[in-house]
Amino acid sequence: MHLTLRQLKVFEAVARHLSFRRAAEELHLSQPAVSMQIKQLEANVELPLFDHVGKKVFLTEAGHEMYHYSRAIAGLLAEADEVIEQLKGGRRGKLALSVASTVNYFAPALLGSFCRRFPDITISLDVTNRETLLRQLAENEADLVIMGQPPAGEDLEAGAFMENPLVIIAPPDHPLASERNIPLTRMAEETFVVRERGSGTRGATERFFNQHGITLNTGMEISSNEAIKQSVQAGLGLGLLSRDTLEMELALNKLVVLDVEDFPIVRHWYVMHRRAKRLSPVAQAFKRFLLEEANTLLRPALPGAVSAAEDK
Ligand code: PGA
Repeated sequence: MHLTLRQLKVFEAVARHLSFRRAAEELHLSQPAVSMQIKQLEANVELPLFDHVGKKVFLTEAGHEMYHYSRAIAGLLAEADEVIEQLKGGRRGKLALSVASTVNYFAPALLGSFCRRFPDITISLDVTNRETLLRQLAENEADLVIMGQPPAGEDLEAGAFMENPLVIIAPPDHPLASERNIPLTRMAEETFVVRERGSGTRGATERFFNQHGITLNTGMEISSNEAIKQSVQAGLGLGLLSRDTLEMELALNKLVVLDVEDFPIVRHWYVMHRRAKRLSPVAQAFKRFLLEEANTLLRPALPGAVSAAEDK
């Protein structure tokens, strides 16, 4: 059976009104044009769809069947239209997000706010280390990636949206906990529990201490922010972590941030994707949300523009 959407649309209108004249008015067509479409449709289905009794029009059995399907098709087309319109506005669709392990501490809060605004979107969140994120960027696997400093030499579009201060933590009963402006050189005497190689936190702290000519005495190397916090609480050494991982422990006074000269190391969180990537409307909306609102939502005390000029 060969038929066109136009024939179906005309048929649906005639069948609904049981009138060629009213269908023609509704569709802004001439009555002969409507008759022509119906004739062609009847020729295509090889059965009459209307009975003409005097001036009245009735649906045949085949006409009733065709009316049922033409209404269903018209409904689906309207739905498709609506979905596409919503997609254009970024209100529906899927978002594949990959984030560095430290981002795990604030990504859900941001996604919560975003999803309240766009309740019909589906999100997949991959929490992984920097090395995997770089591979995902290279292979174009995620819509958007959130991590620290963007890798050099890649063709990426990266926008800084929030500060990421790295701090030194200790248990509250540590001898340095009550000291102020501790000289940086004093850190050479301490043992540190550090993140694994390949972590952005680890890379940034190593660069920082190298620049200051200080060799860190690294004790344990742990690939989890949570395990580092537990180890520092247990007295296994000082820790070097993003301030974003510490909200709960600082509030409960289970850990303290040491007041060390030149600290915190100020870094930033970036949202990024390959420059050539065509972002879906949802990804565009989330990127805009991060750049325009994340800082104010998560750091209400420090509103204002984010400038990554001093990134380390
Ligand atoms: P990390 O990420 O969890 O790998 O340390 C932070 C970053 O990219 O700076």
